[in-house]
Formats: sequence, structure tokens, C-alpha cells
Amino acid sequence: MDKIIINGGRTLKGDVSISGSKNAALPILVSALLTDGKCTFHNVPDLRDIRSIIELLAHLGVRVERENNTVTIDASGLNNHEAPYEIVRTMRASILVLCPLVARLKKARVSLPGGCAIGARPINFHLKGLTSLGASIELEHGYVKASAKELIGNEIYFDIPTVTGTENLMMAAVLAKGETKLRNAAREPEVIALADVLTKMGAKIDGVGTSIITIKGVSALKPVTVTIIPDRIETGTFMTAAALTKGDVLIKDCEPEHVGGIILKLKLTGADIRAENNNIRARGADEIESVDIKTLPYPGFPTDMQAQFMVLMSVAKGLSMITETIFENRYIHVSELKRMGADITLSGNSAMVKGVNTLSGAPVMATDLRASASLILAGLSAKGKTEISRVYHLDRGYDAIEKKFKKLGAAIERIKD
Ligand code: EPZ
Repeated sequence: MDKIIINGGRTLKGDVSISGSKNAALPILVSALLTDGKCTFHNVPDLRDIRSIIELLAHLGVRVERENNTVTIDASGLNNHEAPYEIVRTMRASILVLCPLVARLKKARVSLPGGCAIGARPINFHLKGLTSLGASIELEHGYVKASAKELIGNEIYFDIPTVTGTENLMMAAVLAKGETKLRNAAREPEVIALADVLTKMGAKIDGVGTSIITIKGVSALKPVTVTIIPDRIETGTFMTAAALTKGDVLIKDCEPEHVGGIILKLKLTGADIRAENNNIRARGADEIESVDIKTLPYPGFPTDMQAQFMVLMSVAKGLSMITETIFENRYIHVSELKRMGADITLSGNSAMVKGVNTLSGAPVMATDLRASASLILAGLSAKGKTEISRVYHLDRGYDAIEKKFKKLGAAIERIKD
């Protein structure tokens, strides 16, 4: 397994270009299943998770071709309704094929995704929603078996505004008979991006970006050519890295509107963050102020930025309180940061972070995608050498991040193992 070695203390300077959004690309690539022609997707990031979903789509009988950051998908040959455990277990967002398969083939057999390091990650809202559209669902031998002669529009309420739950049910409702209302729907930019693609395919969707989405089913959808939106979490990660290293970084090809909350919080820490069209200039302050954060559904502070922000707070002046409200076990990075000298006390879903002068480099282990990004940030800031193992977690969601940091002046290397 590859390792990343960092010699910390460098100031990041220069410009970096943001890749396409992993969490927008995943549902959008899957949405091609809803059409029986050739869709073309530009600005698709080169990530492990994207390779996993492409492998799954090919397994379903769909023709998938990739050239650089463009992926073409022809779902006219869709002939397999089974998503096997071997593929789903590598990438739990594979559950997104469930509803499109029922919408197109009237049946699906998808392996239950199971949990991951940050939580149990149940899919009960996905299943309850699909049932209310008329599907019959059985759970057997670790698989979801779903079938429906016809999907009929209905009202669906999400107890929690689930991102992939909203995306999955949107992809069922667009081909259901009649009207569907999704209440307490997720409002993330990735949900809006998917709805934009579905609308371009001919779907009738109102209210996307609000908590109530109304969908009028149509009989068929047509193939499209679209460009994936920039990754807001990668954008937030680089803004935080600039603040952390007192650097001066121009972040290009991003969407400032999608990171408004992160920008405001970083400004409160003293960083100078300026949005200019599709670019953001982020400059770090000499002193980092402590700021409290609470993760919430969009437009709240994103849970996928909690670990990265915690690193910044670990070398800020004073005390900050971080509260994680989305996932039940998203503090695995804390023990590794404490090995680097961070002063963090956990209590339930809150972490009290007492700023220290500096972190110290150490051998650490990545455990999940965003935790591994936080360990890179910690290594960039720490005195001495940090060695991060199990970086395959990182490759799931960041496109050659060590090359991007190296271009900004970081002393960072990937060691092939
Ligand atoms: C999406 O996961 C993202 N993944 C996650 O990003 C992100 O952290 C999360 O949304 C929250 O923003 C993708 O988009 C592929 P949820 P998702 O359903 O959809 C509970 C990353 O690092 N819940 O919005 O799985 C759930 O347990 C990843 O890129 C149920 O109880 O998250 C959680 O507590 C990590 N039942 C809360 O809702 C359900 O049926 C929010 O989960 C569904 C969810």
C-alpha cells in the first residue's frame, strides 16, 4: 500500500485547479441508466470511486468509455439488474443504481452497501421511499431485491435530508406515473447538479435546491452531454491548507457559491479569502483565531470538511468547539492528530480543540477519505516528517492531491509500496 511522506513547515504559494466533484459525478454517471442512448460527461475526476462506479455500470451491460476526463455511457444495452457484493462493497454509493434499475428494468438486486469507518450508513430512507412509489422490496442474503410492474408517484418524507437518498428517489420519480413530492429533501449542490442533468434529459422537476422537490413523471428520458461541477470539498481543503500554512493560493476552476459557509468560517479564523468569478484567492493570517463549527446539511458547514477544519483549529489561538451532527463516528482522525501533538478532547459528538504552537510530524494511518486529507494538512503544518499509510482512502476522493500540493511548494512525496 502506498505511503505519503511530508516534511512540514513549507508555505504554500501558487495556483491549483479544482477537479470535478466526486459526489456530483457518481449520481450523474448513474443517471445515464435512465436513457437508452449515449450520454457524454466532461470534467469527470480520475478517482477510485469513479473507477468503481464505471466497473459497476459496465457489469450491468452498459457501454462505458473514458478518455482523460470525459466519460461516455451508452445504456441502450442495459441487460443486467444485479449489482454484486464484490463491487458494491468497494464503494457504498453504488446503492445509487437501485432506483434507476427499477425505473428502467422494473427490477433490481443490489448488494446492501454496509457501513464504513464513519458510521452505519443505513439506507432505510432509500428503501422506504422506493416502496412508497409502489416497489416491493425484500432483503435477503445481504441483498436488496426490488421490483415494480409500474412506479406510481407519491409523497415521500425523509426523516433526515439524505443526499444519496434524495438522488436515488429523484431517479425513480422522473420515470414514475404521476407526481412525486420529496419532503425534507437534501439541498446539496450535487443534488441540484443531478436534477439539472435529469431536467436536460427531459425530466420535469421543480423546487430542487429547496426542501420540497416536486417531480412529474415522464415516459422516457433522452441522452445528454454535460460537464460535472467542481468539487467543493477539494476547494475547501485547499483554502484550509492556505490558511494553515500562512500561504497565498489561487484556487482555480471552482464554484465559490458552493463554499460560502466554509469561506465565512475561514474568514473568522483571520484568513483573507476573496472570490473572483470561478477562482478564489486564499491567504493565511500570521495568527489563526479559534472558531467553533457545527456540521449540518447544506447550506450548513459540510461534514466532509470537519476533519480538515479541525487541523486548522489544532494550531489556532485558544479553544474551539467542533460538533459533528451528521455521522456518529467521524472523529477517527482525532487519535492520529493527537499523536502529532494536537490537544483534542472528545465528548459525545463534540470535540474541544485547544490550539497548540505547532504539531510534530509522526507516522500516522489514514482511516477514511476525509480523515486522510486532514492528515496531509497536519503533515504540511507540522515540524518534521510525517508518514501517512493506507493512502488508498485518499485516492477514493482526491485526484492526485500530492501532485497538486507539490506544485504549491509542499515537500510531499508518494512512495509506491
Ligand atoms: C453523502 O453521503 C456523501 N456521499 C457523503 O460524502 C457526505 O458526507 C454525506 O452525503 C453528507 O453530506 C456521496 O454523495 C456519494 P446521507 P450519504 O444519506 O448520502 C443518515 C465523502 O467523503 N441516513 O446524507 O450516504 C446517515 O446515517 C462522503 O465524499 C439514514 O439514517 O449521506 C447520516 O447520519 C462521506 N438513513 C445522515 O442520514 C438513510 O436511508 C446523512 O446521510 C440515509 C441516511
